[in-house]
Order: sequence, then C-alpha cells, then structure tokens
Amino acid sequence: MHKVIYDTDPGVDDAMALLFLHRHPEIDLIGITTVFGNASVETTTRNALFLKREWDIPAPVAKGASVTVDAARAEREWPAMVHGDNGLGNIEVPHTIDLPLDPRPAHRFIIDTVRANPGEVRLVAVGRMTNLAMALKEDPEIAGLVKDVVIMGGNFYVPGNVTPVAEANIHGDPEAADIVMTAPWKVVVIGLDVTSITTMSRSYLGAMAAKGDAAVKLLDGLSQHYIDFYSHAVDDGMMVHDSCAAVYVVAPELFTTITGAVRVVCGGIADGQTVVKPDGRRFPPGDWDGLPSQIVATGIESEKVLDLIRDTLLRG
Ligand code: BDR
Ligand code: CA
Repeated sequence: MHKVIYDTDPGVDDAMALLFLHRHPEIDLIGITTVFGNASVETTTRNALFLKREWDIPAPVAKGASVTVDAARAEREWPAMVHGDNGLGNIEVPHTIDLPLDPRPAHRFIIDTVRANPGEVRLVAVGRMTNLAMALKEDPEIAGLVKDVVIMGGNFYVPGNVTPVAEANIHGDPEAADIVMTAPWKVVVIGLDVTSITTMSRSYLGAMAAKGDAAVKLLDGLSQHYIDFYSHAVDDGMMVHDSCAAVYVVAPELFTTITGAVRVVCGGIADGQTVVKPDGRRFPPGDWDGLPSQIVATGIESEKVLDLIRDTLLRG
C-alpha cells in the first residue's frame, strides 16, 4: 500500500485526483492538506471538506497556507475563469461544511505524519509548494524520512500556462518551489510537458458519469466550467494536470523521465520558471551544482493514464 498525503488546492482537476487517490486499491490516503491557489485557502479547505463529505473519504483534512513563504510577494487574483468563483466550477457548494478539521496547520500535520511513518509517506502535492516548504523549514529532517514527493508543477521543454515560461503552481510561490526542489529528498516533477498533452474529452468524462455512481456524476458536473475554459487549448476537453501526479504513484511506467538538479527562478520576467540541469551534461560551475538529482517527467502514455483514471474512478 502507498501511504499518501495529498496536498491540494481544490480546484477542479484537484477533485478528480482526489477521487482517484481515494478509490485506488493500492493507495492508502492518510491525509489531505490544503493550500491557497485556485482560490483562497478558506475556499479550498471548504471544498476539500465538501468532497470528503460527498465522497465519504475517511482521511483527515488539515488547513494550510494562505500566503507565500516570502510574505513580501504581492497577492494576485484567484483564477476564477479556470476553476470558477468557488473553485469547483460554480456548482452549488454549501458555505460551510459541518465536518471537523484536523486541529494542526497543514505543515505540522505533514511533519507529524511523516515522523509517525518513517520512510513510508509519499507526498503528492498539486498546488503551490508553500506547505511543503514550511514543513521543511520547521523540521528539515523530514526530508530523510519521506519516501518521495510527487508534484504537479513546472514546465521544462514546453511553455508555461500563466506566463510564457511559468506554470501556475510554481509561479504562485516560486521561493517555496525552489526550497522543495533543492531539498535532499526524492522529488518527481510532473509538469506541463506531460500534463498539457493528457486531455480528457467532455464525452469521455460524460460516458464515465453515465456508468459511474454519484461521486463520478458530481465530478462530471463540477468539471463543465473548467472544460469550457479549456476551449482555447483543447478540443472540448480538459487537461487533467493533477491526476497525472496521482497516477504516477501507482503507475510510474507510464512516464518517461530524465534526472537532474532543478532550480526555480525567483523574480524578474522569468519568475517561477523551472530549469533542470540534466545529469551528464557538463556546464561551468553554477547554481545547480551539488544539489540533489530529481526526477523530471518528459513523456507520458496519455491514453493509458486516462484509462487508468477511468477504471479507478468506476470502482466506486
Ligand atoms: C495547476 O494549476 C491549477 O490550476 C491546477 O489545479 C493544477 O494543479 C496546473 O497548472
Ligand atoms: Ca491543483
């Protein structure tokens, strides 16, 4: 069993990945931690509790960061045009959900859970990297106690999605992402190189909903606004970014990868750009030297990934 803590900013594609993690038989979802990003942390936390209630997910929810690790960074508008004003595609969601939160902040929940399960926890992080960076700052030893960190974020050999060079999760807190990428733990970076070519059509999702239970029907409903948003880039479908990271946990063979030290540009016109120094390539001394070699996804078997998502979601 893979013990997973899911760090997330639900978020439409976050919701699909949550249902995947909940329903996959080889995954034990032991915690959900929330972060700001697709909406405020109040909203993403409310959404996590809503999905936990609707989908009967036993994992506790711990509320996380509401601002970047560098507090001097300016706040930005929430991406309502992507995920809706409420983060879940503007479907009806109650203002509050009558379920308890874990009393700890997300980064403390992560530290305690990793320490209680040394060598076992897989962190799947699909929002800004703020909670992970805060956990590392407070307790750097957890880097040696985590099994691995699978993130959705970044872009290496393709353009970004919020600037020509930066992807949303990394651009939303570049300093945090640089802390995470350069820490002495194993990071697997599932970025736009693979997620932007992994698109699920409206009809594929609709066929799933027709066969599936209420959980899949809810997912179908909350995804419609997001599919409409993607009409500029996808032919009546959506990029399933966060689910690609969730799939990697159980099916890494569906990805091709390279290894190398990864840095994040912090500031200037390339703010939030992720850059890998591929292992084996020689450069003069520089800012990538002496850092851990991470795993960067460069290829994906998209159809098999989509089918695994479908088969897993229909297990309910
Ligand atoms: C990432 O940004 C968010 O909008 C999505 O949930 C995903 O995690 C894609 O760039
Ligand atoms: Ca996300």
